[in-house]
Amino acid sequence: MSDSVRITGLGHDFEMPVVGSVDGPAGFDISRLLATTGFTSYDDGLANTASTKSAITYIDGDAGILRYRGYPIEELAEQSTFLETAYLVIYGELPTATQLAEWEDRIRRKTMVDERMREFFRMFPRRSHPMPVLASGLMMLSTFSFDSLGESPRAIEKATERLIAKVPTLAAYGYKNSRGEAMLYPDNSLSYIENFLRMSFGYPTEAYAFHDEITRALDVLLILHADHEQNCSTSTVRLIGSSGANIYASVAGGVNALSGPLHGGANQAVVEMLAAIKDSGISVKEYVQQVKDKKTGIKLMGFGHRIYKNYDPRAAIIKQHADAVMNLKAGRRDLLEIAQELEQAALGDDYFVERKLYPNVDFYSGLIYEAMGFPKEMFTVLFAIGRLPGWIAQWRELRSNPKAKIGRPRQIYVGPAKREYVPIHERD
Ligand code: CMC
Repeated sequence: MSDSVRITGLGHDFEMPVVGSVDGPAGFDISRLLATTGFTSYDDGLANTASTKSAITYIDGDAGILRYRGYPIEELAEQSTFLETAYLVIYGELPTATQLAEWEDRIRRKTMVDERMREFFRMFPRRSHPMPVLASGLMMLSTFSFDSLGESPRAIEKATERLIAKVPTLAAYGYKNSRGEAMLYPDNSLSYIENFLRMSFGYPTEAYAFHDEITRALDVLLILHADHEQNCSTSTVRLIGSSGANIYASVAGGVNALSGPLHGGANQAVVEMLAAIKDSGISVKEYVQQVKDKKTGIKLMGFGHRIYKNYDPRAAIIKQHADAVMNLKAGRRDLLEIAQELEQAALGDDYFVERKLYPNVDFYSGLIYEAMGFPKEMFTVLFAIGRLPGWIAQWRELRSNPKAKIGRPRQIYVGPAKREYVPIHERD
């Protein structure tokens, strides 16, 4: 491949060096474009723009491939644990047995939050959505984290461990508050996932009974969410971090970006859609017709992806676990059946085939979370716990680049041209 690309026209001759990649598309470096030609690039939704170089996650959307640090998602889901995968995503290599034991220990020792934070959590209205509660909890955590707000390697390390350790505690406290139930202290004799399940569903009065299948299914679900390169929330984390803002502020921004229904909020929206189909008595065929009719503005939630133009590999793995969890717990089998019917109908329909719309990670995940006992409002919080290592790794990668610039896109102005101020008594 040539190492530069030339564009000529409109009186300009502009040469763009090619930025090579290990896998996937290479890029053109357009950093001199505006200065040389007077033109900026225009890329709605940044669909064609690489905003950074990154060594964390690789996706081939046409082939349905996802790898963290080179390791295929299928192998990690089969053999790894969430904490091991978090280590891999953040530090770049699989840990040795000693490194993993030390990492797990460091996390385990940081699971508690300041007592005043538990009290603060009681101030949130019971009906508040757990996503803004989590985002607020993260900002609150930053106010209790004087020694890990700085830029020294030690401070960044401390913040990394505090975030991985405490976010499940904050998530569980938000949930317990919504139920008006006691917020349990973490039990550090338990694994990361067990601890979270007990803090979410346990009571101080009795021992919590674990189901290995559920613990493992949640572990796998979190692994599947651990990173996904420059998606909306991760780009938000990087953009906030690029101003020099600390990791807590950046990750809280990521939680807020994730909450939208086109992103992580889709897992809640899918289950609401399935329940609405069920309650209205409409057939799957009719619903698909409504989705295809653009005038309705209805989307098939949990379908389609900016990058995947093939089956989302995460959805395929989740689907395998759906049955196991539902066999154990009384999940919404009725909704699972509607989901399966919808998938069949869509995959055989020209509208979806032509646009390469396949089930994404959110299509089946909510149904499993629901079978585990989580209310739909908690689904995106679970996504956030899973995505945390990715946000941290991406923030750290940004910080480790001494040449990193503040993120500051251009615009193409289409508002009124210059005009003169009209005094109020002269206005119609
Ligand atoms: N239902 C119906 N039509 C769709 C859908 C859908 N779910 N997704 C895309 N399309 C159509 C879209 O209307 C457009 O049609 P046309 O070419 O006729 O204008 C075409 O497919 C291309 O879609 P797009 O909107 O240009 O694609 P995008 O890359 O900008 O958007 C997306 C990607 C994920 C936002 C979109 O597919 C979507 O809204 N899906 C539903 C929400 C969802 O499930 N989000 C979760 C995404 S995966 C996990 C995550 O990121 O959190």
